[in-house]
Amino acid sequence: MNELKILVTYYSESGNTEKIAKSIFEGCASEEADLKPIDQVDPSSLKNYDLIFLGSGIYASRVHKSLSELINSAEELPENFVFFCTHASLDMYQDGFKVVKRKLEKTTTKIIDIFDCMGDNIGVPEATRKAMLDRLPPEPRKKAEEHQQRLKGHPNEEDLENAKEFAQLVIKKL
Ligand SMILES: Cc1cc2nc3c(=O)[nH]c(=O)nc-3n(C[C@H](O)[C@H](O)[C@H](O)COP(=O)(O)O)c2cc1C
Repeated sequence: MNELKILVTYYSESGNTEKIAKSIFEGCASEEADLKPIDQVDPSSLKNYDLIFLGSGIYASRVHKSLSELINSAEELPENFVFFCTHASLDMYQDGFKVVKRKLEKTTTKIIDIFDCMGDNIGVPEATRKAMLDRLPPEPRKKAEEHQQRLKGHPNEEDLENAKEFAQLVIKKL
């Protein structure tokens, strides 16, 4: 079988999603894959790929607007998209890809899977995080501190391995 042509592209403010993107890219080693930050992607090149892994951190419950901007500016899209994201919540309760999905629903493109994992809030300065905690009453503050502890170090080695395996499984399914 011919190699698949794959693009792994992402928006990452503080580097967490970029780490996941690199692991996904490693998982695509058997194919002909490119890894690019989203601002380096030429929209007219999207049609040349069989599959695009499209990722972002979650900011105010949504992925970065550059994702839908890229889709808007492409005249032709590939057949398959896979989404990935990192977020500071425990799980992906928020539908961060809502806007992007809405745009793709109007096309023949399929969204075949989604990968998500926690990403420590390293984009928010330590002093701001502390000030936010200080404003909370004791019980919610305890919960917020516990959550910060759980987030620490994510994406970790296990998350990165999961992302790599995820990409390998997606490719197998195609
Ligand atoms: C300005 C800002 C807003 C954020 N809003 C959310 C949010 O609404 N929900 C959430 O789960 N995480 C939120 N986060 C946390 C990020 O999604 C998380 O740290 C992610 O891993 C960042 O990815 P990046 O390092 O690739 O930029 C926010 C972070 C920042 C800096």
